[in-house]
Amino acid sequence: MSNPTPQELLALAAQSARRAYAPYSHFRVGAAVLAEGEIFLGVNVENDAYSLALCAERAALAAAIVAGKRQISAIAIACIDAPPDSDLRGRMPCGACRQWLSELAPQAKIYLLGSEQEFSADQLLPWAFRWKR
Ligand code: THU
Repeated sequence: MSNPTPQELLALAAQSARRAYAPYSHFRVGAAVLAEGEIFLGVNVENDAYSLALCAERAALAAAIVAGKRQISAIAIACIDAPPDSDLRGRMPCGACRQWLSELAPQAKIYLLGSEQEFSADQLLPWAFRWKR
């Protein structure tokens, strides 16, 4: 699937969310990154030391980087445990993930399960921190 539609990418993100390790929050998140025609998946991985939780977005972005694919064109995020009628805020990337998206996926289209809206990293984190770039 080298040129998936937003819906296809969201479906992959939702499918991967089923593999989330979220025994503490019970809030499963999946992410699917499209980079140079390949798809990389991520899930949230929690820890008994709560603050060490890894978000799905960062897991998927890291997977693309590990594979050497840095041209990230899209990311789909699926919070499968968010009630479908809940506020969009409950399905948005957290601040740390926005900083990662800003650096690693500045051109990417960002899709959220349950929303028709499409976002960009700059929209989600204007004035992102930059040190040397
Ligand atoms: N979570 C994500 O995976 N991505 C986000 O952008 C927001 C939060 C996860 C972290 C934690 O495992 C759970 O959702 C509840 O905060």
